[in-house]
Amino acid sequence: MQDLKGKVAVITGGGSGLGRELALCCAARGMNLVLGDVDEKGMQETLRLVEEKAPGTESATMRLDVSKLEQVQEFAALAKSRFGGAHVLFNNAGVSVGGPVWMNTQADWEWVMGVNLYGVVWGIKAFTPMMIEQGEGHIVNVASAAGWLNGPSMAVYNASKHSVVALSETLALDLRDVGAEQVGVTVLCPAFFPTAIHDSARNRPADKADTIVRTEVAAERTAAIQSAVAKGRIKAEDIAEMTLKAVEEDQFYVFPHRKIKDLIRLRAEAAGVEKTVFDSMNP
Ligand SMILES: NC(=O)c1ccc[n+]([C@@H]2O[C@H](COP(=O)([O-])OP(=O)(O)OC[C@H]3O[C@@H](n4cnc5c(N)ncnc54)[C@H](O)[C@@H]3O)[C@@H](O)[C@H]2O)c1
Repeated sequence: MQDLKGKVAVITGGGSGLGRELALCCAARGMNLVLGDVDEKGMQETLRLVEEKAPGTESATMRLDVSKLEQVQEFAALAKSRFGGAHVLFNNAGVSVGGPVWMNTQADWEWVMGVNLYGVVWGIKAFTPMMIEQGEGHIVNVASAAGWLNGPSMAVYNASKHSVVALSETLALDLRDVGAEQVGVTVLCPAFFPTAIHDSARNRPADKADTIVRTEVAAERTAAIQSAVAKGRIKAEDIAEMTLKAVEEDQFYVFPHRKIKDLIRLRAEAAGVEKTVFDSMNP
């Protein structure tokens, strides 16, 4: 979609990190915003920053839990009633939890899969028919390098992000099958970059509370991941800008960190010789 001016951007997880930067980039291009997040204060802060950067931007917000289909359908109805439709959907909301995998609880799986996988599935289900009917649209699914490479202590997150890559590829093919190529798809696969994702538990619902007593190794792994997020060299605002360019140029895969593509090739080579598990932390 080459000209985004006057179009409607719908962003889940718009109250922090990458979602906020996507909102700022979309507003700078003259788009209207529909933001959804469980964090209402965060969304208000996003709108304050949007008003500073792009005064007069039209917007709507909704307290949204993306893991609930009815709420995502209500969110789609909000975009339709407020702006007449939705042009670019960013399925961006995401959370993370540590391992090891045999200690992850049912609540860990339900929470992370609910947000990271079902959140994307419900977004696709609620918005794709609207975009097909409009005859234009673009869906950006925020996956991760963890959708391709599996480090230790991140099984739940890795599984959720592999699923997002898989369903994005199939979505693009299914759209082609019905002749709806005018609805584009992008899957964003960044490595670590600084946001509040290391503190995902701030939004964890009480009925899916964290009950794991973490081992020393697990605590070390969590600390290493937190440090990698904080030290990420590409900023959320740069990743947001790359993502908007991908929408404008109808680019499917986006790997903001070049090294990830090399690691994916190494993983494929390791699989080709069927010898040992590929460790993306120590290739
Ligand atoms: N930061 C990284 O290192 C990194 C790397 C790869 C991919 N990602 C992905 O980027 C996306 C954005 O994350 P971020 O890094 O900006 O983290 P963040 O924690 O700063 O932002 C995530 C947002 O999602 C919202 N959210 C959480 N649960 C929700 C729910 N149930 N319904 C609606 N909103 C909910 C949070 O309130 C928050 O505003 C996620 O999908 C994440 O997995 C992040």
